Amino acid sequence: MRTRTQVGIVGGGPAGLLLSHLLAIRGIDSVLIEIRSREYCEARQRAGVLEDGSVALLRSAGLADRLDRQGLVHGGIYLQFDGQRRHVDFRDLTGGRTVTVYAQTEVVKDLIARRLADGGALEFSVTDTEVADLDTDQPLLRYTDSAGNRHEVACDAIAGCDGFHGICRPSIPAGVLTTWERDYPYAWLGILADVAPSTDELIYAHHPHGFALHSLRSLSTSRLYLQVSPDEDIGEWPDERIWAELAHRFELPGWTLKQGPVLDKSITPMRSFVAAPMRYGRLFLAGDAAHIVPPTGAKGLNLALADVAVLASALDALLHGDDQPAAVYSATCLQRVWRSTHFSWWMTTMLHRSPGADQMETQLQLSQLRYVVSSRAAATSLAENYTGFPVELTVESRQPAQGAR
Ligand code: PHB
Repeated sequence: MRTRTQVGIVGGGPAGLLLSHLLAIRGIDSVLIEIRSREYCEARQRAGVLEDGSVALLRSAGLADRLDRQGLVHGGIYLQFDGQRRHVDFRDLTGGRTVTVYAQTEVVKDLIARRLADGGALEFSVTDTEVADLDTDQPLLRYTDSAGNRHEVACDAIAGCDGFHGICRPSIPAGVLTTWERDYPYAWLGILADVAPSTDELIYAHHPHGFALHSLRSLSTSRLYLQVSPDEDIGEWPDERIWAELAHRFELPGWTLKQGPVLDKSITPMRSFVAAPMRYGRLFLAGDAAHIVPPTGAKGLNLALADVAVLASALDALLHGDDQPAAVYSATCLQRVWRSTHFSWWMTTMLHRSPGADQMETQLQLSQLRYVVSSRAAATSLAENYTGFPVELTVESRQPAQGAR
């Protein structure tokens, strides 16, 4: 079956779904395909922290009704190290900026519901996806739908929002992309637990046994993580062992970690990865298809949303004969990508214990942590990176002056 659309979107995560909505509000049609089922996309446990700029973007796109009702606004984080737990107050340090705890799964549910209500073309459970003719003005998107029908969609542009393991990035001819990559010698064992959080704000803990993070999903559901080795066998971690290790790494006199039934348990590897440029001809990469950050800075979801905010206006211009915003799409996004890549690497290496780390490494980490909680300049740097930079600024810098950032 041969059809046509303006923008073919590969991937039904937050990047692809938000892009299809941002295009629709500009009157641009798209076809979005996803290899997983809708149920799978709506259930997978991912990130949970939205920067102010991401909240503002979702609000300005008319997507924040439930987010505004259920999102939990956080004005800081705790850093725990050396037997102390210290608060970093984002509101005070940044002139009022905050983050909002609202799970990626909920963003995805809101986006899918809205696209379907608006009559958007979303196809789940597709197979054999291919992109072709990328260096022409009519790239092709091919896939087999869940009923077994083969489709070929002629597009004006294709957005590769299909994640790190997707097909879009590898469809770019060899030699075009430069990539940078770092694997970390640790992973996160994450649990979702049916118990009220034991803290009012997230706790990032540096501990001789390794990093731990206390996050949450709601006032009755906690999300907690433990640093483990990348080849850890999850079978070796019965719930009681996880709770005992969490209680140990967060231990503080007078404070107790509330425990409850574990609803979900998984291990996430940690990687930094950037591919550039984020464009080849009429194929544009966005989100994890182009870059991955370790989760310590809570940046992955925010970067994906910021990419597609830039991409929606670049595609709008391109389809109306103005190539300039599309020409600077990659450079515009990469400024934010590299800032977040550095921040996530910095948070990660400051807080985790490398296998075989010597006392020198530990003392350097502790010195950095003490500096962050005692110097207003250092704390402000963490706070402004964590709460993020306005998405609008990135959009405005589409035509940077020579040599300007
Ligand atoms: C989460 O709630 O899943 C979460 C929060 C903060 C992070 C990473 C993950 O830095």
